[in-house]
Amino acid sequence: MYVIITLVVLAVFGYGGLRVANGTLSIGSLVAFLMFLFQLMSPLITFTSFFTQLQRAAGATNRITEIVQLKEEAGQEGIEMDISGLPLTFPDVHFSYGEEPVLEDISFTAHPGQKIAFAGPSGGGKTTLFSLIERFYEPETGSIVIGDTPIQELSMSSWRGQIGYVSQENAMMAGTIRENLCYGMEEEAVSDERLWEVAEMAYADGFIKELPDGLDTKVGERGTKLSGGQRQRINIARAFLRNPKILMLDEATASLDSQSEQVVEEALNRLMAGRTTFVIAHRLSTIVDADLILFIEKGHINGKGTHEELAQTHPLYQMFAEQQLT
Ligand SMILES: Nc1ncnc2c1ncn2[C@@H]1O[C@H](COP(=O)(O)OP(=O)(O)OP(=O)(O)O)[C@@H](O)[C@H]1O
Ligand SMILES: [Mg+2]
Repeated sequence: MYVIITLVVLAVFGYGGLRVANGTLSIGSLVAFLMFLFQLMSPLITFTSFFTQLQRAAGATNRITEIVQLKEEAGQEGIEMDISGLPLTFPDVHFSYGEEPVLEDISFTAHPGQKIAFAGPSGGGKTTLFSLIERFYEPETGSIVIGDTPIQELSMSSWRGQIGYVSQENAMMAGTIRENLCYGMEEEAVSDERLWEVAEMAYADGFIKELPDGLDTKVGERGTKLSGGQRQRINIARAFLRNPKILMLDEATASLDSQSEQVVEEALNRLMAGRTTFVIAHRLSTIVDADLILFIEKGHINGKGTHEELAQTHPLYQMFAEQQLT
């Protein structure tokens, strides 16, 4: 738009100048004409920018209506059930996000109190499996069972209230550290002492104390004012706070330095005691003591057993183990 206007002004100026030079136009008329032209310009510019804004608003509105039309999760529908002491079973579960199958023939049982670890190359489907347990997605065939009850029959709030999930992705929101820790709980019901206690267990109390407002420090959009390791420790503290029956850790100690990793791992071990725990870790050192290691490759479980068993029978696991543990 600006380029066109400049070109038009230049053209009028050039042609008008020529006519003035050979006496067919008075200089006054040319100046008057140019003045009118300038007057016309600003409404023209407003008009075009109106159209750009209209386009933008249309795009945004589309996006908003898409979100508004999404089906809402039924939070309270279903049965309330205490899941402690019950085994979790995957009976031949299949799942895909689109066309390509992401998980196939997934079968295993996690007995209460056991630590089940998932290992395998990147993109194998480990996080997807956790999303199924969390009920972010539903399996295509086979339904995950807790005790004898398919987990879809439990109400979302009852089920998720008993699970702690430290995700691989950043799970922070804008707001204070307190709000992030208490997310989904009644904030008033959680005392400061309890918050500091879980922060200490997750090795996060040190840096929180150094922040200007302590627990009430604003962490910025998606927690951008904290480092990756700090965010992860807050996520771990959040899991501690819920005292979950089932704990899921997806690369929970991946972005910590080796010293805090050790401490957090100790804390996690304390937290895991007596609960069913699912762990995903690329570092084998964190999973060697698991009761059962499932090796997931391209959506299939192709190795099942303890560390010793897999180290003897599974070639790829052997390679992982050799690279990392020697
Ligand atoms: N939300 C999604 N929509 C579509 N495809 C997805 C989605 N999330 C993951 N995938 C695909 O599913 C496959 C498994 O992904 P997943 O995140 O479960 O792997 P992973 O085993 O956790 O890998 P990593 O060890 O790198 O975390 C990948 O091929 C990925 O491209
Ligand atoms: Mg993953």
